[in-house]
Parts: sequence; C-alpha cells; structure tokens
Amino acid sequence: MNYNIAVIPGDGIGPEIVTEAKKVLDKIGSTYGHTFHYTEVLMGGCSIDATGVPLTEEALATAKASDSVLLGAVGGNVGQSNWYQLPPNKRPEAGLLQIRKGLNLFANIRPAVLFDELKGACPLKEEITDGGFDFVVMRELTGGLYFGDRKTYEENGVTTAMDTLTYNENEIRRIAKWGFDIARKRNKKVCSVDKANVLDSSRLWRKVVKEVAADYPDVELSDMLVDNCAMQLVKDPKQFDVILTENMFGDILSDEASMVTGSIGMLASASLGDTKLGLYEPSHGSAPDIAGQNKANPIATILSAAMMLRYSFDLEKEADAIEEAVKAVLKEGYRTIDIMSEGKKKVGTIEMGDLICSHIVK
Ligand code: IPM
Ligand code: MG
Repeated sequence: MNYNIAVIPGDGIGPEIVTEAKKVLDKIGSTYGHTFHYTEVLMGGCSIDATGVPLTEEALATAKASDSVLLGAVGGNVGQSNWYQLPPNKRPEAGLLQIRKGLNLFANIRPAVLFDELKGACPLKEEITDGGFDFVVMRELTGGLYFGDRKTYEENGVTTAMDTLTYNENEIRRIAKWGFDIARKRNKKVCSVDKANVLDSSRLWRKVVKEVAADYPDVELSDMLVDNCAMQLVKDPKQFDVILTENMFGDILSDEASMVTGSIGMLASASLGDTKLGLYEPSHGSAPDIAGQNKANPIATILSAAMMLRYSFDLEKEADAIEEAVKAVLKEGYRTIDIMSEGKKKVGTIEMGDLICSHIVK
C-alpha cells in the first residue's frame, strides 16, 4: 500500500528525531511492501522564521490532505529566543494548538509504560513499581481552558487576566467514548479524572462520562479528583489502565505520568479524531540545548510512528515489529545519553535509529 505522510520536523531536536523515524518507516516499507511518501510541512519557530506565522493555511491544508501527520517537536528556549517576543498567538506553540483544532484531533493518547529494561531510571521505589505498570492518559485536546475565551484587561486601574473553561456535553461524550473504546482493548478500566468538588465543567464531565459508561458494561468506571490523581500516580501507578480527563488536567498529569516512567525520551503519543487521520509525536519537547549534537533519543518518535501504523493505517504487525525492534536494541544494552546507565553502550541519535532498523524483521 501507499501512504502519504505529512512530516513536521519542527524545531530543536525535531528534525533529527524525525529523520530517524522516517528511516525506520522506510525499513518497514521495504520489509513489508509498503511505500511511504513524505511531504514536509513547516510548523513552529521554523515556520515563523520563514513565513511570519507558526502555521500557514497551506501547511494546514497539506496536513489535512495527508493520510497522517508525523511531528518532531516545536518551540525554543523561552528565555532566549526571539519567537517569545511575539504575541502569544504567533508563538511556536500556537502552531501546535492550531493544527490540533484544524484537524479536529480531540483525543490525545499518551501511554506511560515502565520499560523492563529501564526500570533503573524510574524515580519511584522498587516496592511501588514491582511488576511494572502500563497505563494511558486519554486527554481531551481541543476544548477547555486552551480554547476558551481569554483576555487581559484593566479594571479600575488594576490589570486583570481571564481564561475560560467551557465544555459541552457533546465534546465530553466523544472523548469519553474514545476512553472506553481504548479501555476495551486493554485492561477494561477507566478512571475519569475531574475537579467535580469545585467546577461546574467537571460536574457535567462526570455526569456525561457516567452516561457513556452505560454502553460499556464490560468496562469498570471510577471517578477521581485531579489532586488525588496527581498523588496516586506516584503512590500507586499500577492501579491505572486508562485515565480519562480534560485538556488542562491531561497536560499536567501526562507530564507526571511520563516522569514516573523515568524515560520521557521513550514515550510516544497519538492525537486522533473522528477519522483515520492522526497526528503522532513524542511526548517530550524540542530540547534546544542538545539540538544538532546527535544526542537526542529518537525512540519516542519512532514509537509514535509505530502508533501511526497501528491507529491510522491498521498495520498491526508492522507496528509490533517496530516495538519489538526497540525492545531488542534496549535488551542488547544500547542507550542514548538520557537513559544511559553503568555498563551500557552509549550511542547517538543516528546510531540508535540504525540499530532499530537493523532489528526490523518480518
Ligand atoms: C503538550 C505541550 C503543549 C500543551 C504545549 C507545547 C502547548 O505541553 O503537548 O503537552 O500544553 O498541550
Ligand atoms: Mg504538556
């Protein structure tokens, strides 16, 4: 089969990690008989430099017309880069929000897995992580505080800023369905996270999630307040299967979830909507401090490409082949600097990509 992939290298380490992911996709192509066509799209700081805006209409149209989108990372060093002198809606990250909204990618799946080989990097005590953990954060991505009205204004000589958190029942219902569908393919448990003891939007969230749960009698639903969830993630991460939550809570909890795995450089993510078109990107940022030095860990991007094969193209075997190759390379002791430990073999971005390619088998 032929697949058209819009590729957004972005900023910082983005281009180098995306290069490795393409290399791995091409190896999958030659091994399994597929052809991946790539169209490069500008987004983020590099787009600001070239066009004045973080995402042009044409760039969005190219992404829309593709079968799927692979993204590296966008953004720079907030303290140093001129991009951050621009108004907020013209900065690199605004491109990310625009493409999420423009492609209607309301469901963000962020897996948090403790890789057996990397247990040592986990900051939690062994008695907490014994037996490993494997859950996903299912984050609503196109609503809530991120997309509500906001303004900064003067009132009686006092500067005031306002952001609004709005959800309607349809937005909650569609993400809840995603959460339950994913749980069905996993361990059949959804933990819906909200702040229903304070927020109206959370009370509606809880009510609608419960209604959706009625259609999934085989999936167990629990509710948890977000502050408690933040605590439970470090106290007992094994209890979770699917954490279903709104945009802002998901942003915060998914960073915490990736940290407890000890290896944010390993974690992939997928943003999906009502169609097969998805956007796949590593969970980590653009790490401008190590850009261009062959130091970045490409594994999260490579595993994001695997998620693309699985969710957008239904290529299960091929996705498995990438995941197995990553495990095999780790088992052989190869590590990029972020996951390096004593006695292991340190490799750079390019070598890691090559090693993973060489372990792709049919
Ligand atoms: C993420 C990031 C983005 C977000 C930023 C860069 C706007 O933190 O993907 O989690 O908050 O969604
Ligand atoms: Mg975030």
